[in-house]
Amino acid sequence: MSMTILSLRAALQSLPENAPEAIISGNFAPHLLRALGFQSEEIYPQYNTGDGAVDKAARKTTEDDVFLYTKSNPYLLLELKGRDVNLSEDTAQYQTTVNQLKRYLLAPNCKTVQWGIITNSCHIQLFRKHGKVIHPATQCLAIDADNIDNVVASIRQKIENPVKALTIAVYNNKGGVGKTTTTVNLAAILTFLGKKVLAIDFDPNQQDLTSSLGLPLSKGSVFEALTERNVELQTTLHPYKFPLKKLSAELRFDVIPADQELTSVPEHILLNHLRSNTLHRKLEFSRQEYDYILIDSPPNWRVFSQLAVYAADVVLIPTKHNNLFSLENAAMAMKKFIPEVQSKKVDGSPIPLPIFFNGEKITPPKLAVAQQEINNILKTAKKEGFNLLPYFYPKYTNASRDLRIHEVPSYANIADSAFLRIPAVYRDRSAHEYYKNLAKEYFLQ
Ligand SMILES: Nc1ncnc2c1ncn2[C@@H]1O[C@H](COP(=O)(O)OP(=O)(O)OP(=O)(O)O)[C@@H](O)[C@H]1O
Ligand SMILES: [Mg+2]
Repeated sequence: MSMTILSLRAALQSLPENAPEAIISGNFAPHLLRALGFQSEEIYPQYNTGDGAVDKAARKTTEDDVFLYTKSNPYLLLELKGRDVNLSEDTAQYQTTVNQLKRYLLAPNCKTVQWGIITNSCHIQLFRKHGKVIHPATQCLAIDADNIDNVVASIRQKIENPVKALTIAVYNNKGGVGKTTTTVNLAAILTFLGKKVLAIDFDPNQQDLTSSLGLPLSKGSVFEALTERNVELQTTLHPYKFPLKKLSAELRFDVIPADQELTSVPEHILLNHLRSNTLHRKLEFSRQEYDYILIDSPPNWRVFSQLAVYAADVVLIPTKHNNLFSLENAAMAMKKFIPEVQSKKVDGSPIPLPIFFNGEKITPPKLAVAQQEINNILKTAKKEGFNLLPYFYPKYTNASRDLRIHEVPSYANIADSAFLRIPAVYRDRSAHEYYKNLAKEYFLQ
């Protein structure tokens, strides 16, 4: 067959100008998958995801488990389109294709899948899946004969060296919406559920995360690790341990405590030492060590929040249903701050996760008021060219019109916990359930 002779570049060049999907599938996809490192017996066409058939699924052979024969444990999905489908970002066809890929990635037979690719041979984009979270791992790239070998080599580099951790910045410009509480309790519940977790207190002015766990402050070590080339951030770790007496065992997650030294330096001097990517770069080793890295950030869009969001794959935004500013700030992060960071980072990350409501009891009339405010925010955003609907109402489809927003209700024992230096989820059954639901809703498959 021709595919053994043709290079990927030659295959691309020989495609007809208006190649339909069947031609992309027959004359382009096999070369693409080969260039990504997959042999023909490692590829299964029209793979049944359990929620529709994806064009190709692939997985490397392990011992005598050949994917084409066993169809077990797929690793990568490839959804193909013809050149009649416009996959430049921001087209409706692009969004539909991404949604289709996301559906397959989360389908029952794809639990082991870590990567998804969409391409029509003019554009290509790689997505990563971590638990329930799907985020871009490259921008949607235009490909041609000149760049295809490089683009595909960089995608291959990523899928052959998967990163273990999902890095989550917890951010909202509005103060007091539950960023720190969310960070602490998510770290604690994910640890309880068997995950390896690092929590970072990146709010050196308030140091709330550090003090709510009763840990000592960092006293200059984080500043040093961030600014000195040969000092690793791991040197600043402090474990938080919670004994499980009956089992004579303990729960443990790592914390990077707040460093007051970072606040003693004026911001303009700090900015001479810190780059946008400093925290991201310093977390390189940790990303292979932990399942989750959670970063608590201050209620403003200055240096620490900017570094935290840059370091993240996804941004978790707590809001309060009765606080318009917290909702407007969430929209502001989505329209302005997060895209600003995306444009510096080139891999398409970070992306916002849908908002959730934290604290305060919600009665139906109060919910109606919040929805009115959200509708106004969505309308304004739409006029400015942003579709924020999926970030405010993630369950909304034309078929279901579901306006549910995830809630962590107010709970007395959550507020007390800071004084007891123990995360609420380790002391209180209801708090435990709330945060377990949050972890399941957003992160765990
Ligand atoms: N679900 C909840 N139920 C009850 N109290 C809560 C809940 N979430 C947060 N709180 C309380 O609300 C207050 C503010 O929460 P938290 O410190 O987490 O907010 P924050 O967004 O980190 O604030 P800041 O912007 O100052 O950093 C704290 O006293 C906390 O204990
Ligand atoms: Mg805080």
